Amino acid sequence: MKTQTKSKKVNKAWLNNHVNDPYVQLAQKEGYRSRAAYKLKEIDEELKLIRPGQVVVDLGATPGAWSQYLRRKFAPKDAGQGGAAVGQLNGTIIALDLLDFEPIEGVQFIQGDFQEDEVLAALEAALAGRPVDVVVSDMAPNLSGIASTDAARISNLIELAVDFASRHLKPEGALVAKVFHGSGYNELVALFRSQFKVVKVVKPKASRERSSETFLVGIGLNAG
Ligand SMILES: C[S@@+](CC[C@H](N)C(=O)[O-])C[C@H]1O[C@@H](n2cnc3c(N)ncnc32)[C@H](O)[C@@H]1O
Repeated sequence: MKTQTKSKKVNKAWLNNHVNDPYVQLAQKEGYRSRAAYKLKEIDEELKLIRPGQVVVDLGATPGAWSQYLRRKFAPKDAGQGGAAVGQLNGTIIALDLLDFEPIEGVQFIQGDFQEDEVLAALEAALAGRPVDVVVSDMAPNLSGIASTDAARISNLIELAVDFASRHLKPEGALVAKVFHGSGYNELVALFRSQFKVVKVVKPKASRERSSETFLVGIGLNAG
């Protein structure tokens, strides 16, 4: 009984924070499926990674706010402020997630686990040999609460994203990946440095301060 009361209190506090969060309110106003859109938007505004005409792969895409942001960037300028949610699209977006994804016009979706060979093969088939301009990954594994297991799960997903990026990005392409401070973080930064010419660590304002998440951005593949 005690635990139930406590968890109700925690839920209420979470709900209050969520409802009063300016990014949640902005997302509702601007028609984004989640406040996560503003994390990618800030990263992009700082580093100017996303441009019309590009091929972008969105890993861990559900519920779809990053894909919506990409879609708006790819909508022709005359489609209205901030681009349009429907209509013509100048660019390619391939989204992938374990979970289902409510369709977004013009976004190709693949459902499956990025760690599985056949899912990777489906993603590669969707690319049909086209080199990729930007890979964005907001993937976060289900956490077990056991620090070493969780760090290994996080690292494994990011290592796979780096491997995918190094095989499919254009030489000047970029990878944006969500990582978490803690065990394994320094090794992931070192992995990015070994693969990319420029590595930036970005903590967008839209990323809650108390969250250990941060974003690694690698730009331009190292030769060989
Ligand atoms: C924080 S959410 C992404 C939010 C998304 N960027 C947006 O803007 O709506 C993380 C997603 O990563 C997905 N994910 C976690 N592990 C995955 C895996 N191994 N393969 C594919 N997707 C995965 C989860 O299903 C979840 O939908």
